[in-house]
Amino acid sequence: MFPSIPTLVTAATVLASSALASPTPIPIASSQVLSLVRRDNWTPPAGLNVTYQSEYNASLPSTMIFATGGTIAGRGSSSTASGVYQAGSIGVGALVDAVPELLNVSNIYGVQIANVGSPSINSTIQLNMAQYANKVLCAEDSIFDSLVITHGTDTLEETAFFMDLTVNCRKPVIIVGAMRPATALSADGPANLYAAVKTGVFPDSKDRGALIVMNDRIGSAFYTQKTHVNYLDTFKAPEPGYLGGLFNNEPFYYYGPATPKYKNTFDVTNVTSLPKVDIVYGHQETDPRIFESIVKYGDVKGIVLASPNGGVGVDSAITDTISSGIPIVRHVRINVGMIAPSETPRNGSVISSGLINNQKSRIQLQLALATGADPRAVFEDALREELYGN
Ligand SMILES: *[C@@H]1O[C@H](CO)[C@@H](O)[C@H](O)[C@H]1NC(C)=O
Ligand SMILES: *[C@@H]1O[C@H](CO)[C@@H](O)[C@H](O)[C@H]1NC(C)=O
Ligand SMILES: *[C@@H]1O[C@H](CO)[C@@H](O)[C@H](O)[C@H]1NC(C)=O
Ligand SMILES: *[C@@H]1O[C@H](CO)[C@@H](O)[C@H](O)[C@H]1NC(C)=O
Ligand SMILES: *[C@@H]1O[C@H](CO)[C@@H](O)[C@H](O)[C@H]1NC(C)=O
Ligand SMILES: *[C@@H]1O[C@H](CO)[C@@H](O)[C@H](O)[C@H]1NC(C)=O
Repeated sequence: MFPSIPTLVTAATVLASSALASPTPIPIASSQVLSLVRRDNWTPPAGLNVTYQSEYNASLPSTMIFATGGTIAGRGSSSTASGVYQAGSIGVGALVDAVPELLNVSNIYGVQIANVGSPSINSTIQLNMAQYANKVLCAEDSIFDSLVITHGTDTLEETAFFMDLTVNCRKPVIIVGAMRPATALSADGPANLYAAVKTGVFPDSKDRGALIVMNDRIGSAFYTQKTHVNYLDTFKAPEPGYLGGLFNNEPFYYYGPATPKYKNTFDVTNVTSLPKVDIVYGHQETDPRIFESIVKYGDVKGIVLASPNGGVGVDSAITDTISSGIPIVRHVRINVGMIAPSETPRNGSVISSGLINNQKSRIQLQLALATGADPRAVFEDALREELYGN
């Protein structure tokens, strides 16, 4: 059986979702078909600072790289310093220069969006990238076959999920990083970058949403998450699995094009900032004052509860928070598995995360709030339909 929603939900009086009712998210089945133009006289959109451009070859596809920093751009004091190093030290040009094989695969354009460790990536940078991605990749006259984003691995899955929900024109957005800095023995960044560019221009990569490509595996950005702090085989989608991989540096897929059934898309064209959403980590004896202090400051617009199992030990704290009207999305701190919606939609502020983990639930709640979508519908409706047929 699926975990049920605690009874305290029915006692809630404040209806956060009714205040936010409609518009519903944009349907995922985009009919937008983009023409591809092979030309080198491309003019970047205003404000996009292209600092790297390979010598143009009209018979090759074209890839835009947005570089944000992270371990893939990290520099250690020696080749054995694989765990202690300065992330975000190397620019996009140097990343490409380290892999000259790329230039036989694709024309490469590079933009240094940021050069920071992934904990410093924030919603301003994510919005910036999504808005430029839509202009560069999804424009009617786009010259680009794919967008590759280089990123630190710690929050890579959050940016990947953000891009998956906000850039939807059938072309692949590939998010890639490295576990070892560029200066380390057997640095994995160059091979991962090569695999990312190859996967991006591979015709069968279309219509799969954003993809995480690391360690010769191709995973859906919707489900893939980091599962180990240190080792190269860290990105996994424990239940759904990988979509494909690379053999001999050539991509292949296990499945035909596929979209996650519970995916929502959001148009962030006119969004200038995202509301603040915090994650609370639940445990035995969770202190209700955590909720009180979050609500007290008034700038938090939503909470994700990484609950031990869905509310144990924090019920009264949740009840108090509900009375402030802030939507609370519940997932489990194990970070894998389903928190199922109730059979019929409930009123109140507590929303079930479904199959999306804690950090991705936070991103989706931010996007729902920023675009005026009903958070409960966004999180629960598709899964409720699947489970109960209503
Ligand atoms: C573009 O980026 C380069 C390299 O980071 C920098 O030197 C230059 O000032 C930037 N130009 C603009 C217009 O921001
Ligand atoms: C352009 O790319 C094609 C296809 O890979 C290759 O055969 C050709 O040699 C390249 N041209 C130049 C000038 O590098
Ligand atoms: C690029 O392709 C050409 C022609 O096949 C080959 O001679 C060259 O070694 C390749 N360069 C790299 C860096 O792989
Ligand atoms: C995100 O980081 C950038 C660069 O450090 C900063 O300019 C921006 O204000 C930050 N945005 C938020 C929402 O903190
Ligand atoms: C964004 O703003 C423009 C200009 O006001 C408007 O035409 C467009 O419909 C808006 N798009 C969305 C998704 O709100
Ligand atoms: C939820 O609120 C709506 C609108 O106020 C009402 O029609 C519906 O009966 C309520 N549902 C439950 C389960 O309380």
